[in-house]
This record gives sequence, structure tokens and C-alpha cells, in this order.
Amino acid sequence: TVMRKKIVAGNWKMNNNLQEGIELAKEINGLVESTDIKDVQVIIGAPFVHLTELNKAITSNKIRVSAQNCADEKSGAYTGEISASMIESTGTECVILGHSERRSYYGETSEILVKKTNLCLENNLTPIFCIGEVLEERESGKHFEVVKSQIADGLFHLSAEDFGKVVLAYEPVWAIGTGVTASADQAQEMHAFIRKTLAEQYGDEAAQNCSILYGGSCKPSNAKELFSNEDVDGGLIGGASLVAEDFMGIVTAF
Ligand code: G3P
Repeated sequence: TVMRKKIVAGNWKMNNNLQEGIELAKEINGLVESTDIKDVQVIIGAPFVHLTELNKAITSNKIRVSAQNCADEKSGAYTGEISASMIESTGTECVILGHSERRSYYGETSEILVKKTNLCLENNLTPIFCIGEVLEERESGKHFEVVKSQIADGLFHLSAEDFGKVVLAYEPVWAIGTGVTASADQAQEMHAFIRKTLAEQYGDEAAQNCSILYGGSCKPSNAKELFSNEDVDGGLIGGASLVAEDFMGIVTAF
């Protein structure tokens, strides 16, 4: 029996001011409370300045709040940074790590991500760890290799116990914000490969228990097909998470 959770996580990125964010979170909260979403876990990935207020505004126990990044140091003289322990102190439970936008615009390397992942786990935060190839890597047939190294370099230092706390998100970079989604077959093929990679390192059971989300132009109209794949356990949603009805259309797509 498969134990892993079904998860739909929104990644608001750098959108919504505080008032707009609270409004949207309340709207999602209301819809989650009034809709049968089965056993789906909903996550809202918001900017740092929203976290405290969203944790107050959300009453549904089916919704968890996530940050989108954290510092790679514990505390101290790091002007402008936000630590994992600060995030935890707001009631936030998850942190999106290694999103391709952070890897490419902010120089996040696997070395940095190892530190961030460790700090999240030390502070009881669930890392939602992102991986995915760029178009050129897929076209040259390197996508499996690239994804495997991202996982190995960022996560395989973890004990099996700690690895069990991590959620993975496969986001092919060419599908992010482009309107071009991976086909259901492309998603399933990569998710199965990822699960096989996890099994080689941590064993079958650990691999079976890991939730692997798909991200990249996921919307209500394609979510059902993507989520019907055996190894796709939900989605990490950008654009469509900014409109409550669209996001709920994905939450209810299982
Ligand atoms: O983290 C989610 C994301 O990168 C996908 O964005 O806008 O293509 O759903 P979008």
C-alpha cells in the first residue's frame, strides 16, 4: 500500500502584497473548508512578510504555509537574510528549496542547498526540494542525468530518516511559466526514474513513501491527466495558484 501524501502546493513567487495575500489565503481557506478535497494536503508558498499573517488567517488543518527560501546560515551577521528558525517561529511548516529561479538568478548551488536543507530539517521544516532540467539538457538527452545529480548532490547526504521528511518537486525549467506543460507521459517517465533513483539510495519503501510533485504550467485543465500517473503525487503550482478558483480546480483534480 502506498503511504505517500497527495499534495498540491502553490508557489506565489514574488506576487501579492500583504493585504492581497491575506485575502487570497482566506479565500482558499474558505473553499478548502467547504469542498471535499479528500486526503489532499494543501500548501501555500508565500513571501516571507506574509507568513505570520497567513498562519493566523488560515483555520483549516488541511492547509500548511510554506516559505520559498531560507538562509544558508543559522543566525548572525547576514544582513537581509531570513533563517529557518525564524520561519519556524511564525508557525510555517515548509520551505520550497532550490527552485530553478533561485538556482539560475541567485546562484544557488547544490552546496548551498545542502546547508539550507539541513537547517530546515533541524528546525522541523519540510523541505520541498525542486529539481529539473533546462530545455537544452532535455534536447540533448541529458535530463535524467541532470535530475539524478541534483538529487544526489543536494539530498543524498541525508540519513534515511531525514530523507523521509523531504518532498520532491520535479519542475522541468522549459515548462515553468511558459504554458508548455510536460506531457503526462514525460512527467510519469521522469517521476518513475526519480523514484528508482531514490530506491537505489534509500530502498524501495523509502522511495514509495516519498511524495514527488510535478511543476510547470499545471492548471485545472491538465492537472487531472498529470495526477492520474502512478508516480505523480501532486503539483507545485505557480501562476494558477494566484487565483483561488484555479488553484482549487487543481486541488480537486485527483
Ligand atoms: O514552483 C512552481 C512553478 O515554478 C511553476 O510555475 O507558473 O508554470 O505554474 P507555473
